[in-house]
Amino acid sequence: MCGIVGFTGAESAAQNILEGLEKLEYRGYDSAGVAVLNDGIISITKVTGRIAALKEKTNNGLALPGTTAIGHTRWATHGAPIDINAHPHISNDGRFAVVHNGIIENYMDLKVSLIKDGYRFESETDTEVVVHLLEKYYNGSMKDCIRKVAAKLKGSYALGILCTEQPNKIFATKQSSPLILGVGVGENYFASDVTALISHTQNVIYLEDGEFAEIDRESIKIYDCTGTEIKKSISHVNWDIQAAEKGGYEHFMLKEIVEQPRAVKATLTPRIRDGKIVLDDLDLDLTGIHKVLITACGSAYYAGCAGKYIIEKLCQIPVELQLASELRYSSLIINDGTLLIVLSQSGETADTIAAMKECSEKGAKTLAIVNVVGSTVAKLADYTLYTNAGPEIAVATTKGYTTQLATLYLFSVYAAGVLGRLSKEKYSQLIKELLSIPKLLQETMDMNSKIENTAKKYFNSSSMFFIGRNTDYAVALEGALKMKEISYIHAESYAAGELKHGTIALISEGTPVIALACNEDIKEKTISNMVEVKSRGARVLAVALNDDKKIAMLANDIIYVPRFDSVFSPILEVIPLQLLAYYVAKFNGCDIDKPKNLAKSVTVE
Ligand code: F6R
Repeated sequence: MCGIVGFTGAESAAQNILEGLEKLEYRGYDSAGVAVLNDGIISITKVTGRIAALKEKTNNGLALPGTTAIGHTRWATHGAPIDINAHPHISNDGRFAVVHNGIIENYMDLKVSLIKDGYRFESETDTEVVVHLLEKYYNGSMKDCIRKVAAKLKGSYALGILCTEQPNKIFATKQSSPLILGVGVGENYFASDVTALISHTQNVIYLEDGEFAEIDRESIKIYDCTGTEIKKSISHVNWDIQAAEKGGYEHFMLKEIVEQPRAVKATLTPRIRDGKIVLDDLDLDLTGIHKVLITACGSAYYAGCAGKYIIEKLCQIPVELQLASELRYSSLIINDGTLLIVLSQSGETADTIAAMKECSEKGAKTLAIVNVVGSTVAKLADYTLYTNAGPEIAVATTKGYTTQLATLYLFSVYAAGVLGRLSKEKYSQLIKELLSIPKLLQETMDMNSKIENTAKKYFNSSSMFFIGRNTDYAVALEGALKMKEISYIHAESYAAGELKHGTIALISEGTPVIALACNEDIKEKTISNMVEVKSRGARVLAVALNDDKKIAMLANDIIYVPRFDSVFSPILEVIPLQLLAYYVAKFNGCDIDKPKNLAKSVTVE
């Protein structure tokens, strides 16, 4: 949902900005722009399209001299993705330029009043009100001006600002949108997230809501919302540069799929010590918990769907699921006996944050399972378990999802142990199974090295169905989402038994049905549903346990996962579905890492 970056130092600012924007492109990629402050003049260059187009237009930044600049990559909310709506926006007098991530909710009222005051609007964006407000309230002090402007704004924003009267400085402030300051040597930065910074510095400062930063090449001054200067500690980010690079893979998505055994290992093994799960960060009395409520969006929600089965099975606590975008409008019973589990890779998803705040207000204890350290979700939660997946750059999540599953598994076994719901033997068996997951993930990957050939048979379909029961159904939800978001093929997931209550009418000669049949407890029932669709002409691609001859005989095609007689088997089952979606999208010539209309970090509700 838009990425912003700012630089001031001794080198070419435009080149630094372009490099940072490339790293942030996953946040939005329909238009982009850069503003450079040089010799008291702000020059702005914008393009419709990707950062590559901005690089071309500016000759890789060489056409823009200057050592202080701000930049933006956009995912359009207000106004079409065209040059005039691209950021940075400039004030009528040319003294201010602004980049913005978020939404100014009261922009219409502000716009009407600014037009009355004589300000001229060039764009359809909500952001443009900010730059005119800066012009209106500036009296020589940026600190005072920002405070006055912030008092007028409702909504979410991370703002980066240039002012011609403040040479060699960049300014930043935020409210409910992420913003990180990068502390370099002889140069300093701000950015929407650390991936834009780590090739220059791993030393960062997390700006909090209402704080304002005045940044020059030698120093960073931070003020709180009363205008008082405050000292903030510098955090060291341990993500390395390679983790945010493609490392020889054609796409980030493929690299991230392949990284899953390692990522899941990094999630599980540090928390299993001497045959026990140790969750240092979870100092919570579970005996007072009467209900678990899981909330999230998209794939994170689907990880929650798989989590529900296992928490209920192992802990015998009722688990409710609610989409974060719906939670606030539901009448769910939430109180201090509720444990809210929030799942989020980015930790910045607006709906998830809103749902979390709502539940906290009602007394629920909140446990965040989140990947990005220092993110809003992590900061808001009472307890946080990091998923340790490393940076996930491809818009479609893969290792983000499996590390969420792994963390839910850890939590389930831990909670069941604490609550005395497991015998000693069962607990030890589950620990062994957990520890074997990384190796089995690698085996799953190796077993599916030929999935590219299977994808060739399915890539030109117009519609697909993913079916399964129980945990297989939870995985089907994620499989269908992966397929549709990167290949643009209509894909629907159905609880296998539900198909015959209407949707089976859509099955005709050759319709692909991906049937998940790895859950041994209910496999026979799923087989019946496979037969039902096959008799209506469907082409069935089954996902089954290794060497399942019965399913192999029934299905048109089969994908195997290792036999893993465990409640944790869904984590393996999703791997071939990720690979299938990847290759189907590839054969369709889709832009796999940056699917159309999407952005990775959805910071608008
Ligand atoms: C799909 C995908 C999205 C995210 C969702 C939540 O591949 O990535 O559905 O899962 O937008 O994002 P986070 O986990 O960052 O809260």
